Parts: sequence; structure tokens; C-alpha cells
Amino acid sequence: MTVLPYAFSASQKLEVAKILKRYPAKYKQSAVMPILWLLQRDNKGWLTQGMIEAVAHVLGMQPLRVQELVSFYALYQDSPVGKHHIQVCRTLSCKLRGAGALYQACRTQLGLTDGELSEDGRFSLTRVECLGCCANAPVVQINEDIHEDLTAESFVKILKALQEDKTVIPGSACGRKSSKPWTDKVSGRQPRKVSSNDT
Ligand code: FES
Repeated sequence: MTVLPYAFSASQKLEVAKILKRYPAKYKQSAVMPILWLLQRDNKGWLTQGMIEAVAHVLGMQPLRVQELVSFYALYQDSPVGKHHIQVCRTLSCKLRGAGALYQACRTQLGLTDGELSEDGRFSLTRVECLGCCANAPVVQINEDIHEDLTAESFVKILKALQEDKTVIPGSACGRKSSKPWTDKVSGRQPRKVSSNDT
């Protein structure tokens, strides 16, 4: 595979220098994650092989070690993602609260399956492990925003809004404040039973 070399922009060089100052010189490899994140944000949400090698070079690491990080963490992508990169949590709390229905809603509304990018490049879909918001399950991350307390219906509304290029507001879909106890008064709905279709 031919790897196109990557050159840091002037502003990226400044940012990298700032990041490196957070770490003792002999531990500069600890800066690998924020530097990868910086490059990914500047490249529409994904890292090229050239970027991975450039980061390895700056930090004196083997490119394979950086590649291992990129492939381990769902935070990083090594292939193009959509303008709206949708990550549906599939871990226990979300699964018990209807993550399966959210994934099916994505499939129906966007015509995508796990790991796919739409032909027009607007949407990509992936199922991920715990997004760290279990108290507000089920949860979906869209780009850098977390959408919580979703139902299939509220999630489809979000997807339709994105398809129409409308702004969507992250946070709780039922108006819950942070992780306050779930009550019918807050949610406006009855506690739901999980069916086998949700898995
Ligand atoms: Fe989904 Fe933790 S299980 S956010």
C-alpha cells in the first residue's frame, strides 16, 4: 500500500507544541492520543495512514504502536466517516433499554448497517461499546454530541432532522436534567418493557 506522507500545517505544529508541553520530554509519547485527536478533527473525522505515520515520527514511536491505538479505541477512525458519524451504544445498559430498536431505526431510516458509510458521504453508522452515559441509556453519539434517553421514535426524529440539514439538540430526549432519577413525571411515559426485538 502506498502511504501518502502527511505534513503538519502551521497551526497544527503550534497545537502539537502546546500539547507536548503538558508532558515531561522523556514521556512525550503520552501525547499520542491528543495529537491523533487534533489531526482527526482537522480531517473530517478520520485519520489517514500518512497521519498515523507522521504522529509516530514526531513522538519517536513505531507506526505500528500508533496504529494499534487507532484500531483499539472507537474514538479514532482510520477510514472515512460521514458528515454525521452515528455511534449506537450496544453495551448492557443501553441494550436493556432499547439499543436494538435504535440500531434498527438507523437501518430503516438511513439504509445503513454497522460499519457502513452512505454513498453521498452524509452518514456513517457503527455500533460501539459503552459511551460512558449508562444512567441515561439508551445513548447514541453523533459526531461529538451525546443523545440520551432515546426511544426509536425520538431517534428517528433526530435522524430526519439531520437528513433535512436541521440543527439537533444533544442531551436527554425526554428533558431529564443530567442523570436525575427517572420518573414518569420527567419522562412523560411509562417504564418500558424490553422485547426480544430490541436485542
Ligand atoms: Fe451504553 Fe454505557 S452501556 S452508555
